[in-house]
Amino acid sequence: MDSRFIRSTPFLRCNGKSESDERNKGDEEERIISKHSFLVSPLCMSGGDGEYSYSTNSLLQRRVLSKAKPVLVRNTKEVIINLNFPRYIKVADLGCSSGQNTFLAMSEIINTINVLCQHMNQTPPEIDCCLNDLPNNDFNTTFKFIQFFNEKNAMSKESYFVSGVPGSFYSRLFPRRSLHFVHSSYGLHWLSKVPEGLENNKMSVYIQNSSPLSTYKAYLNQFERDFTTFLKLRSEEMVSNGRMVLTFIGRRTIDNPLHRDCCHFWTLLSKSLRDLVVEGLVSASKVDSFYIPFYDPNEREVTEMVQKEGSFEINDLETHGYDLGHCNQDETKRSKSGQSEANYIRAVSEPLLVAHFGAAIINILFDKFAHHVSQHASCRNKTTVSIVVSLSRKKTFLMS
Ligand SMILES: C[S@@+](CC[C@H](N)C(=O)[O-])C[C@H]1O[C@@H](n2cnc3c(N)ncnc32)[C@H](O)[C@@H]1O
Repeated sequence: MDSRFIRSTPFLRCNGKSESDERNKGDEEERIISKHSFLVSPLCMSGGDGEYSYSTNSLLQRRVLSKAKPVLVRNTKEVIINLNFPRYIKVADLGCSSGQNTFLAMSEIINTINVLCQHMNQTPPEIDCCLNDLPNNDFNTTFKFIQFFNEKNAMSKESYFVSGVPGSFYSRLFPRRSLHFVHSSYGLHWLSKVPEGLENNKMSVYIQNSSPLSTYKAYLNQFERDFTTFLKLRSEEMVSNGRMVLTFIGRRTIDNPLHRDCCHFWTLLSKSLRDLVVEGLVSASKVDSFYIPFYDPNEREVTEMVQKEGSFEINDLETHGYDLGHCNQDETKRSKSGQSEANYIRAVSEPLLVAHFGAAIINILFDKFAHHVSQHASCRNKTTVSIVVSLSRKKTFLMS
């Protein structure tokens, strides 16, 4: 069965309104969308392997993985040594999405363990590789890459076993004290829902320079609730001394928490939606009620939340430049990279946009988006970064 048609819980609303508000608005298409979004959470990446799919448009995330590789390798080695070369380990990739990226991360972990065990003359452990995402993720496309994964690891001495774990990482996914290593790349900036209290943030899908301070506070509070829940749940599932390597989109620490660059991807998406309002293709009220369930914390916010929750110690905390590769190029290259950034943002947001606006506006919306990106080709992205943090599960003492 296609995993996208499995009923998913919890349901993520993308407009902060009740279902009955939606229905009163009227037209038949909206009712159908609303009804289906009750059954299927709209947050997922575009499935399949077509032109606009996540699988085809996730080169940026592959670059992010390779920048985080030294932290991943170091922490993989340390967990195996600290756990004294166990016979078996369970590794999870949380927010694996569809496509091959998850297998690149898993291969890195398997290869690191293999080399370390050879070096130290130890028997390699059996490895349980658990790939998690929301139930409506297109796992089928991911599992088609299993052959490539097996070929890549053909020389490895360990046995490994791959399985899919559908569910939200803001809920319990694994038995108590069963997990040894958690990897998650570019999943944790997605919130469990759109925060409440965004009504005054007009015609903008996310925080931007002109947003009221209450918008920042609403997003920050939702992120804190979600991230703290994530840490608490993983602390129950992980063994003492288990490790996590988490990479997500963040922002540089500057005084004004509302500041986002003029070329920030959600700022450009808001601009593109406003173009459609001017052209009469979308109503202003429709744009006013759409928000992205996303937050880009800074290092200080992340550190304080980890310390406040208290189950993990921070080993590494790094920020890397967020490089969409469209800066300072000549005009033809600029319009090409405008298109590729449009495809990248489309791959991660199309299901959310379709659930709210319908499918008819998507092509024209991303034509506008590509145009705005090319207009900002000379901007240097100043606020957006990738944050890589590695955490150790503190020792727990069992009560007898
Ligand atoms: C941008 S993709 C990153 C995928 C992959 N890790 C990579 O590096 O290419 C983010 C993924 O996180 C998933 N995700 C978001 N919220 C989630 C949640 N609460 N539980 C599980 N997965 C989630 C999304 O469905 C999506 O597939």
